[in-house]
Amino acid sequence: MLDPCTFVIFGATGNLAQIKLLPALYHLEEAGRLPEGLSIVGFGRREWSSEQWQAEVEKILEPKLRQGPNPELMARFLKRLHFFQGDMSDIHAYERLKQLLAENPALPPNLVFYMAIRPAEFGVVSELLAEVGLNQEVGGWRRLVIEKPFGYDLESAQMLDRRLQRHYSEKQLYRIDHYLGKGTVQNVLVFRFANLMLEPLWNRNYIDHVQITHSEDLGIGSRGSYYDGAGALRDMIQSHLLQLLTLVAMEPPACMDAEALRDEKVKVLRSIRAIPKNAVHAHAYRAQYTAGNIKGESVPGYLDEEGISSDSTTETYAALKLYIDNWRWRNVPFYLRTGKRMERGASQISIRFKHPPQQLFRETPIEQLKPNWVLMSIQPSECLRMQLQVKEPGLELRSHTTTLDASSCSIASSQLDAYEALLLDVIEGDRSLFLRADEVNWAWQVVDPVLKVWATERDYINTYPAGSWGPPEASSLFEHDQHWRNSMDDES
Ligand code: BG6
Repeated sequence: MLDPCTFVIFGATGNLAQIKLLPALYHLEEAGRLPEGLSIVGFGRREWSSEQWQAEVEKILEPKLRQGPNPELMARFLKRLHFFQGDMSDIHAYERLKQLLAENPALPPNLVFYMAIRPAEFGVVSELLAEVGLNQEVGGWRRLVIEKPFGYDLESAQMLDRRLQRHYSEKQLYRIDHYLGKGTVQNVLVFRFANLMLEPLWNRNYIDHVQITHSEDLGIGSRGSYYDGAGALRDMIQSHLLQLLTLVAMEPPACMDAEALRDEKVKVLRSIRAIPKNAVHAHAYRAQYTAGNIKGESVPGYLDEEGISSDSTTETYAALKLYIDNWRWRNVPFYLRTGKRMERGASQISIRFKHPPQQLFRETPIEQLKPNWVLMSIQPSECLRMQLQVKEPGLELRSHTTTLDASSCSIASSQLDAYEALLLDVIEGDRSLFLRADEVNWAWQVVDPVLKVWATERDYINTYPAGSWGPPEASSLFEHDQHWRNSMDDES
């Protein structure tokens, strides 16, 4: 039985709450997973009553209901919602909030504080909560959920952490990386550690290289002011893609508890070879999209997007080559790549095996054997696939690539939202899929040298046309016959 709790959302009328949090909570209600007494308090600046907020939420949810309208369910969900009007920077608002939480019997004493707000506000809100004593675990637990970006670079992340740790124990902090809530991402662990077959091959002796790609056909939308200060390396690679890398590369944990799992991920991050300043260009490539065509529609270049200054050199594409200096992975390159306004939106892990040691089929019509791949698609669909070589039917000794697909291949990842799994984990108190302070720190250490060098080269940036797979020059990161793998269906 789950503890009933009060789920306080700071930024309740903002984008994240509307697009992700409230729909996820509704779908948990639909799945019967919300604890009986759970209440949701929306903390916002607007002069709204709870009834007004409920009406607003109902409107927002309508187009997002996976199983269509269900008035009874909706009524049950809306009953959980309470609006709290307040200014996040005003201590009196927190005093009132504390009083409301203490006096209203519909609000259980276990408290989740969800920071669906701008990163600049994380520090203030967490401190004001502490100032009125709402960080103290009296009468129930307190959990603080912090969205990314967690800091702007290594130094600011450490500063934010010191601020938080002054008032909250690590056990109370849930640093969210929504990528870890995606089905296939968790499947990486199951695939690796619930099967024995691949384990002997999962190392530098058999794996040629690993690619982790997250491409988007969308641009930056209305997030220009945030994105222009961040760029692709901070926005995607420091967080989501490095997390994927840790799951692919980590050793089996002693058990599946949060600390054991995160210990192993940290070991991977610590083992990543530091990129020296003078080698940044051999390890990292950045570029920005110009106007182009996506699915037959012309789209503007980055510099013409809303809120972007005409001389911005922020990267919308970043590719990084990393090495993990441990016994398992030494000298196996890991390529991480992300971009906005690319040809297609997809997230994929591609693991290429080495060629067999002997070219046994050289004298036959099979001239060059294609290597094996293990492919994991995270979106648009969830899929796990192996590519193998088999003989073509017929008299000749010819080969072709065949694929073995796992049964999950037909699941559209949009059917399950990552936030549902993660919000449930917060309510259950399971921190396995949340980031620990040292993990965030080490991830910043990996990208920090690149950020520093790029920060000094602000007068020029390479470009790629929107709708392409990014700049071809990014292939200069590769060794020998490697190349970017853009889809699950490529033939090599
Ligand atoms: C966010 C980034 O963390 O992840 C966005 O800030 C990006 O820029 C998004 O678009 C991608 O996540 P998803 O789940 O939409 O693929």
